[in-house]
Amino acid sequence: MKTSSKIIALVCILAATVAGLSVKGIQTATTAEIMAPLKPGDPMLIKAEREFVKGRHIFRFDTFGDEAFWGDALQLHLAIAGQGLGGVGTGVSPNTALAVGLKVDVEALPQALIQALRLGQVNLDDPATTLTLLEMDAVVGVQGFFNPDGTLRSIGITCALCHSTVNDSFAPGIGQRLDGWANRDLNVGAIVALAPNLLPIADRLGVDVNTVKAVLNSWGPGKYDAELNQDGKAFRPDGKTAATLLPAAFGLGGVNLHTYTGWGAVTHWNAYVANTQMRGKGTFFDPRLNDPVKFPIAVKTGDWNLRNEPDLITSKLPALHFYQLGLVAPAPPRGSFDPMAARRGKAVFNIKANCARCHVPPLFAEPGWPMHTAQEIGIDDFQAQRSPDGMYRTTPLKGLWTHMKGGFYHDGRFATLLDVVNHYNALFVLGLTEQEKNDLIEYLKSL
Ligand code: HEC
Ligand code: HEC
Repeated sequence: MKTSSKIIALVCILAATVAGLSVKGIQTATTAEIMAPLKPGDPMLIKAEREFVKGRHIFRFDTFGDEAFWGDALQLHLAIAGQGLGGVGTGVSPNTALAVGLKVDVEALPQALIQALRLGQVNLDDPATTLTLLEMDAVVGVQGFFNPDGTLRSIGITCALCHSTVNDSFAPGIGQRLDGWANRDLNVGAIVALAPNLLPIADRLGVDVNTVKAVLNSWGPGKYDAELNQDGKAFRPDGKTAATLLPAAFGLGGVNLHTYTGWGAVTHWNAYVANTQMRGKGTFFDPRLNDPVKFPIAVKTGDWNLRNEPDLITSKLPALHFYQLGLVAPAPPRGSFDPMAARRGKAVFNIKANCARCHVPPLFAEPGWPMHTAQEIGIDDFQAQRSPDGMYRTTPLKGLWTHMKGGFYHDGRFATLLDVVNHYNALFVLGLTEQEKNDLIEYLKSL
């Protein structure tokens, strides 16, 4: 009798445990469980995969016809080819390209070339080698267009230029693509300043070419100004560049507003950039830019309401959007942070410092409308005022470890994470100890 009641009790406990597990299972289903209903041949899965692959191709290789601007108008291709190959000046060798932060996709190179590179048989100081790389689609974010005789006819840029890097698997700057990573080595300004004809930019801004050059050269690596050609503001009141850091373009699923100042949804910004920054040929409409006080140049040039025929952008926005949201933030490599300290830092983040009230896990931005005034986060409102809302968006922190170069906050004003933590510690009077600050930093590195 005694034994059988024990057995019954045991069975009850087991049943309760199993029930508990399955309830928990609903909340935190494993990937295998979620995937189970999707059989390999599932039509929805096939469609989703096609859309993803299409979006990836657009992100990596589509210029949206912007070669009409970068090549045909600015003649950047002539500066790349150099005098010896039908262009102007000394040309851009692979070594020069790597020095300004351009990246080479090793997977686009044929085995023979990889072998020759290994043996040091490729002249990396010769612009002709750059043209060969362009012909192979191996320069990340740059598309060459060639004449039948092999000379460079024009050049265009893609999203990958600023939002991809490589893992350096072959050599520094040469490796496998890392889509969505901010290229903080890339000196966009220095590259554009090479263009033989900067008049189209100067005319737009209503300044002379030397001023344009000075502005471009003020940006430095890892920065670009995505609002300059709407408001003409090249410098902050303190005289520093108005350019912002190139942000990551991954880990944005679930986040409602994008860019440092929350211009809109991912697809709003994709259309904005493709049309108004890359100068691809499409359709873009945003009446908020039709504001002569905030965006005098957008009003003058009509950038708030662009219509191109044919439209090379609009049909690509769905797949591009899908791909962007599919770019999950990469996990930090083992050994890149102290796991024990990070665990303690998580508690500091969530409780004592209450960072989580704005950086709500696991999005690390607020679900809803993640916008704050400059005053709330204790900084000036210069950049915020360059956007329609006049506020800053809570930066999603996933994958923070991939962009530790160039500083933090939209303009990199805080050189280190300790500087960021010290800023909040003072602003919110958190009273963090040195140990808590350190733990918090290890947690930030673990996201
Ligand atoms: C010349 C460099 C450059 C190119 C090319 C470029 N971007 Fe960006 N991108 C930026 C900068 C700089 C910002 C930040 C702008 C801001 O906050 O004002 C940004 C912001 C973004 C964001 C918002 C990220 C966030 O944290 O919310 C997304 C998404 C994005 N870009 C996608 C794209 C796509 C898609 C393309 C191609 C159509 C593209 N970008 C082309 C420089 C670039
Ligand atoms: C009131 C809301 C709010 C609180 C609270 C808050 N943040 Fe932020 N955080 C922001 C906003 C908004 C930005 C964007 C600022 C910018 O780019 O200029 C930001 C940016 C950051 C960045 C820079 C990310 C990058 O890529 O440059 C880090 C790191 C960060 N916060 C960490 C923290 C930590 C740690 C705490 C707690 C001590 C915290 N935040 C508390 C709103 C907040």
